[in-house]
Amino acid sequence: MSNQREHWGSRIGFILAASGSAIGLGNIWKFPYIAGENGGAAFIFVYLVCIAVIGLPVLIAEILLGRTTQRNPVGAFKRLSGSPFWTAVGGMGVVAGFVILSFYSVVAGWSLGYIIEAMKGTFFTFSEASLAGDHFESLVGNVKWIIGYHGGFFLLTMLVVYLGVKGGIERGSKIMMPILFFILIILVIRGVTLDGAEKGLAFLWNPDWSKISGQSVLIALGHAFFTLSLGMGAMMTYGSYLSEEDNVPSSAFQVLFLDTLIAILAGIAIFTAVFAMGQNPGAGPGLIFQTLPVVFAKMPGGFLFGILFFLLLTLAALTSAISLLEVVVAYFVDELNWKRHRAVMIFGFTIFLIGVPSALSFNVMAEIKWFDKTFFDIADFLASNILLPAGGFFISVFVAWVWGLDKAVIELRKGAANIFERYGWLIVAWKFFLKYIAPVMIFIVFLYSIGVIK
Ligand code: PFF
Repeated sequence: MSNQREHWGSRIGFILAASGSAIGLGNIWKFPYIAGENGGAAFIFVYLVCIAVIGLPVLIAEILLGRTTQRNPVGAFKRLSGSPFWTAVGGMGVVAGFVILSFYSVVAGWSLGYIIEAMKGTFFTFSEASLAGDHFESLVGNVKWIIGYHGGFFLLTMLVVYLGVKGGIERGSKIMMPILFFILIILVIRGVTLDGAEKGLAFLWNPDWSKISGQSVLIALGHAFFTLSLGMGAMMTYGSYLSEEDNVPSSAFQVLFLDTLIAILAGIAIFTAVFAMGQNPGAGPGLIFQTLPVVFAKMPGGFLFGILFFLLLTLAALTSAISLLEVVVAYFVDELNWKRHRAVMIFGFTIFLIGVPSALSFNVMAEIKWFDKTFFDIADFLASNILLPAGGFFISVFVAWVWGLDKAVIELRKGAANIFERYGWLIVAWKFFLKYIAPVMIFIVFLYSIGVIK
């Protein structure tokens, strides 16, 4: 069966699709505001350490598991271990795909809706910040608006996955990712050429070490997982469409590099503009939907830049959502012999429905809470704080301790002999970090996220 499996048409196709998965709301919406809240440059430094010592080793391990087994996460663990426990770990990844996509699409839908708001010129009515906040509240409070855009975004995601690995995901990424890079460069140029931009740059580059605490280290590590799409088998699934000639360590490095570059460029574009327009950089999750529209209202050329910004955010979210749906689809196609088209239609619609209560958490279900959290908050918490760290932990333990590093290294060498010869120490470092550092650090994050350590 594996010889019928679709494969990426080119090496760049994989790199663009995998960096499309990695680059998403996490980079453009979340990274700037958590960096803003946690000391700017100091936080970025901690985050870079986390992605280098934990993100990269786990990313390589995930892609390698996929390429070796040519399977979705459930099939990958089943093949290499034959044990029900490890197969269930793969199953947890598929469940995480359901959960993350259900609420991710709600926020992505806001971004889609904001393209239209920007085109209508709505931002120009925001003479002060509170008006943008009120407008945001009124949009997300409108059931039709929020579900309509959640559904619209879902249809786009389903369409791409429906068209297959090469014809949909790879082709879509090859079109969308260059547009995304291009728009971001334009926005960075606009940002740094504004009067007062240097205050935003200073905010990003001058570390405020006093803001770094145990908590911010853990936020940085948790974010390293989310932003690299680790811990739920998305990179494993994309890796399963690679063949033995492909160079896993070098591709993983490129994906990580692009993901980090985009997060930092997004930070530059956003903070230069926010500071230059005299707005508050520490607005938290509302930075993008409540602060930026005011920035666009005041900025020269803001009409065009506002449209471009929300187009950028939507494209980034779309290439990530595609990878989430693909994990679920690949499971049903590989393990249960479903046809791709049928899996996309049925699960696309099911996950859309699971997202409806998340969308309603901002209006009719806003008062319905468990442990002080709405349905949306619970889905986010469950995925980002429990399923992803647990998945990352199990993946590193599995490769280093169960499957075994000796076997893993034999697989890793395929297509990467040049790296083994020229940078042998990198492979030694990979083994060390995967075996000791990653599981221990992830375990600490996990205890922190479920509140065992504070
Ligand atoms: N990496 C994506 C982001 O930064 O927005 C989110 C994500 C996508 C997480 C795919 C997990 C995943 F499997």
